[in-house]
Amino acid sequence: MKKIILTGDRPTGCLHVGHYVGSLKRRVELQNSGEYDEIYIMIADAQALTDNMDNPEKIRQNIVEVALDYLACGLDPEKSVLFIQSQIPELCEMSFYYMNLVTVARLKRNPTVKTEIQMRNFEERIPVGFFTYPISQAADITAFQATTVPVGEDQAPMIEQTREIVHRFNHVYGETLVEPNILLPDNQACLRLPGTDGKAKMSKSLGNCIYLSDTEENIKKKVMTMFTDPTHLRVEDPGHVEGNPVFTYLDAFSTAQHFEKYLPEYKNLEELKAHYMRGGLGDVKVKKFLNNVLQDVLRPIRERRKEFEKDIPAVYKILEKGSIVAREKASKTLIQMKQAMKINYFEDKELIENQIKKFNI
Ligand code: TRP
Repeated sequence: MKKIILTGDRPTGCLHVGHYVGSLKRRVELQNSGEYDEIYIMIADAQALTDNMDNPEKIRQNIVEVALDYLACGLDPEKSVLFIQSQIPELCEMSFYYMNLVTVARLKRNPTVKTEIQMRNFEERIPVGFFTYPISQAADITAFQATTVPVGEDQAPMIEQTREIVHRFNHVYGETLVEPNILLPDNQACLRLPGTDGKAKMSKSLGNCIYLSDTEENIKKKVMTMFTDPTHLRVEDPGHVEGNPVFTYLDAFSTAQHFEKYLPEYKNLEELKAHYMRGGLGDVKVKKFLNNVLQDVLRPIRERRKEFEKDIPAVYKILEKGSIVAREKASKTLIQMKQAMKINYFEDKELIENQIKKFNI
């Protein structure tokens, strides 16, 4: 069986370091490993519209931002198909048939949908499109016969729901769809990178993100004002590293080389953490180190982005070409689905022959 990757992001803003460690970095590694037969990276504009239906301009503006972030991180259109979800109408057709395989009760139990309903006080007023986006996400994944979906932990309920739809489809209509596997980051800290304010998640609306396209000064300002351990008041006080986002970021980003280069008095992060917990290590010193680490990681990304920004028409061309390739793949899968569902009336010679017999007796 072919090894195929599909993953993507909603174009609701520029991508941030949470996206980077949660999935982007891994995608680039997988792309360059040469172990995958096909790689599809999708800008999920149609999904973004499910909760931004009144703001299509925002989505429109952010498509190119996300594409630039992709290219800046090293996704290579020669190796990965970069495309836009709304340009693949086959996905809507698939979603329509998958809707028959999922109950309202099951969707209400989807942890992501459930939290959103509570958080936004939707109750019964939830838009149907938003309520059913897990089904459309199943179409995104299965259309490309993806075996592997590299995503952050927050997407786990979506992959689970997709696997259920695949089982149900294959059970009812015969073995057709490929069951995908989720690929989560190995590093615990990368599963869900907290915001710079220590809140559980980075989110544009909370203003607690470090973006891949942030300037050097911006990154520094954000790092130096980061939330740390509120009980660590004086340098001598023993500090906590758990729940302290500065250390979570170091867990996610720092390497032995960073220590060698910027903090040679410590061998590794374990030693730095031990000192902090013992007391006698100030936040400013740790933050300065984190700033150096992040600058090293983000500088090459920002510089590559600047290069791609010089030729925006070329970026659109990449997405346009990618969307054509993606559409070909999705339409092949849809033909197989329709065959399995027996709704391929004009391609099925046997059907016509049997009908002739039926009407001749
Ligand atoms: N739900 C994803 C997000 O919010 C985006 C997405 C849409 C996606 N379809 C997908 C991710 C299919 C992986 C596979 O970021």
